Amino acid sequence: MIILASGSPRRQELLRKLCDDFVVELSDAQEIQRSDAPRILATNNAKLKAQAVAAKHPDAVVIGADTIVSLDGKIFGKPDGIEGAEKMLKQLSGRRHEVVTGLALIADGKIYTAAEVTAVFFGDMTAQEIRDYVATGEPLDKSGSYALQGGAAKFIEKIHGDWSNVVGLPIRRLKKLFEQAGVKLETTPNVHQVKNPLVSHKLTQLRDKRTSPKLFRELVDELAMLLTCEVAQNFQTYSVEIETPIKVCTVETLDEENFVVVPILRAGLAMASGVLKLLPDASIGHVGLFRDEKTFEPVEYYFKMPPNFGEKILLVVDPMLATGGSACAALDLLKARGAQKIYFLCLVSTPQGIKKLSEEHPDVEIFTAAIDEGLNEKCYIVPGLGDAGDRIFATL
Ligand code: PRP
Ligand code: URA
Repeated sequence: MIILASGSPRRQELLRKLCDDFVVELSDAQEIQRSDAPRILATNNAKLKAQAVAAKHPDAVVIGADTIVSLDGKIFGKPDGIEGAEKMLKQLSGRRHEVVTGLALIADGKIYTAAEVTAVFFGDMTAQEIRDYVATGEPLDKSGSYALQGGAAKFIEKIHGDWSNVVGLPIRRLKKLFEQAGVKLETTPNVHQVKNPLVSHKLTQLRDKRTSPKLFRELVDELAMLLTCEVAQNFQTYSVEIETPIKVCTVETLDEENFVVVPILRAGLAMASGVLKLLPDASIGHVGLFRDEKTFEPVEYYFKMPPNFGEKILLVVDPMLATGGSACAALDLLKARGAQKIYFLCLVSTPQGIKKLSEEHPDVEIFTAAIDEGLNEKCYIVPGLGDAGDRIFATL
């Protein structure tokens, strides 16, 4: 049994990216408030939380975590109310601070610890913006009085380091602790099959070998839009005040400029056009890969991304996830250059491709319109739709 010794719904959501089969039990440990260095303090608090739960469940694997915000060596915990939250945010405004999460994993009576540090840069916030944000209630139960994944997104200029660490559970680091402890995780791949009659209908037309390149391109474009609607359920909106012809009202909006659409060339281009119809102010990056005809291994020939893409949400698009080689290579390239938050959108995938992608990139959520039977001897998807690039660009 795996136990998460934390009641934070954000940590639970992040842990689900590594394993499904866990329970939550709150620790009754008293956190230490001493003025140790942030890494030591966070790790010791994580240890205390994990040990308190492990004492009651000696056979379980227990995870403890503690997140603190530190500005110039001064430690910010959770605010003690509205005034406390406003005071913290005033101090963070226009400054760089660090978020430290200490992790403790107890397995077979042994304790494994780690700490992850992410630098967060806030833009300037006006007193009114701070008051309005605190009035939403969101900052009141958060260390440092803000939620990166929530309304504070609009105040954050950039971050250096792991995004999930700022939310409260650095999942890459935790994955390494599980590996160190030899704990095998039961994972359901992070895959969402978009089940919608319109998607099935368009996909059927797309698969049909009689479909012309013109119609094929239109269908890929439309399917990309339908998949984008599904992925968008995960996007964080923020509140703005607008005036309709009738009255002033507060409504929700998205920061489109926070997105980068990344087609894997060539075939991904046809999907990118669909995504961009819904997010026209997103920027565009390009990763050029082709599969070697003999080895089926991806070969890189182009890479061009917009500035600061590492701080944005990437929508990587490619109609086909066959062996998974191209998708994994693209994500490796993007992450090596700083990408953090990535969604992968494809039209047709295979169990093999999904397995490879979710094992190598467990933090990337996959959205696919179909999961087919598998691959033939030439590594084409069965039944699939043939060579997507050739059908899009009429190069058959
Ligand atoms: C296709 C497809 C993917 C890749 C999938 O591209 O668009 O990028 O194959 O196969 P994999 O999962 O086995 O790597 P291709 O190499 O044919 O290049 P193209 O898009 O330029 O036609
Ligand atoms: N690439 C394609 O375009 N089609 C497949 O079936 C596999 C890889």
